[in-house]
Amino acid sequence: MSSQVRIGLAGFGIVGQGLTSILTGSAQWIERRLGRPVAVHAVALRDPHKQRAVPIPDGARVVSNPLELAQDPDIDIVVELMGGLGMAYDLIRLALASGKHVVTANKHLLAERGEELFALAAQKGVGLYYEASVCGGIPIVQTLKESLAGNRILAVTGILNGTSNFILSRMSSKGLTYQAALKKAQKKGYAEADPTLDVEGFDAAHKLVLLIRLAYGHDYPLNKLPVTGITGVTPLDIAYAKEFGCQVKLIGQAKMVDGRIMAGVHPMMLSQSYLLAQVHGAFNAVRVVGDAVGAVMLYGQGAGGLPTGSAVLADIMDLARDGAAPNNTGFPEKMLPPADILPPEEECSRRYFRFNVEDKPGVLAALAQALGDVGISIYQVVQKVDPSAPDSNIVPIVFMTHQAKQRDVEKALENIRAMPFVKAEPVHLRVL
Ligand code: HSE
Repeated sequence: MSSQVRIGLAGFGIVGQGLTSILTGSAQWIERRLGRPVAVHAVALRDPHKQRAVPIPDGARVVSNPLELAQDPDIDIVVELMGGLGMAYDLIRLALASGKHVVTANKHLLAERGEELFALAAQKGVGLYYEASVCGGIPIVQTLKESLAGNRILAVTGILNGTSNFILSRMSSKGLTYQAALKKAQKKGYAEADPTLDVEGFDAAHKLVLLIRLAYGHDYPLNKLPVTGITGVTPLDIAYAKEFGCQVKLIGQAKMVDGRIMAGVHPMMLSQSYLLAQVHGAFNAVRVVGDAVGAVMLYGQGAGGLPTGSAVLADIMDLARDGAAPNNTGFPEKMLPPADILPPEEECSRRYFRFNVEDKPGVLAALAQALGDVGISIYQVVQKVDPSAPDSNIVPIVFMTHQAKQRDVEKALENIRAMPFVKAEPVHLRVL
């Protein structure tokens, strides 16, 4: 590399502007750490006339076609901050093929097409770094890739999506419905106008696939990952969770079970006493359990210009240090082997069930029997009168169970749905 580290920046949104602010405000500090400055050589912009809070860096060439960055001989590192699967893919592919390092925050693209892009980077001997793609400012990629490299990772468990955590936190602290909490999140700029990626668990799923690669060195196809979002979580279930001393959180988890990877993203109940249950608002956290280190927990901001810019810059600085060959996946193979996946129906966890049923003799016994018939053992049961409708003939009956297999849960639910006294779709949540 030259006396300057010259980056080509594709995308100048929140993260691109955050990165630029840090590069400008901490220029001397960065140069001291690196021994040479980082300069934005070119910026690819869709609309060069748009008003932006942060100005385009002095001296940066503005281009309209991001692919120009990939072929500019004066650029050392292409920084992809556009997002999406189209142009971002073309840019990253072309940059890697042209022998340039790439830094990206694009979890969706790496979850969908990482296998191919990492193989290309390995073939070309260049870096494809992505610290910012998992939980924004939290340095979990580097932690798994380098700091915990000698550990067999037993479990990775995280609150990987700030938008859904904000919504669930508001539902819990203010008793809001999902819709009201979503509106609040949109007003505060945490949720997009179309919140699907966040609230349906897909964004967390993209991040979990990347974490599985880093923790286990296996490729886990995104379309095989069981995912449930938070749109079905109700204030009533959050209130019951509190009675059991729990919070409801959208949890992404991967762990080794008998040599196979069990993974998924689901809203789960977890004890208030867990550190993860104390993660509120738009914050993220990841808990890693290694065989040597034990439990390690990282907590911080998973989005936003400066926190995410901080992670992008760390990758740029790491690549700019020259020296050892880039370490993209944390494993030497050009292609990671496919994951040995525990079939989702074998997944085992404690469960919470809520059934809205007619209040009449034999109902509780029939529900308990349906669970017992498939081998699910009940841990606690609650039937309470709804104070707002004390004379209602429809009541919620809540069961907490011991460990139950997903296959048995589905069988029990199928049988219970068919019972004539069951008046609404049963609710069920996993318990962490
Ligand atoms: N939209 C994400 C979140 C941040 O709410 O956490 C970027 O992945």
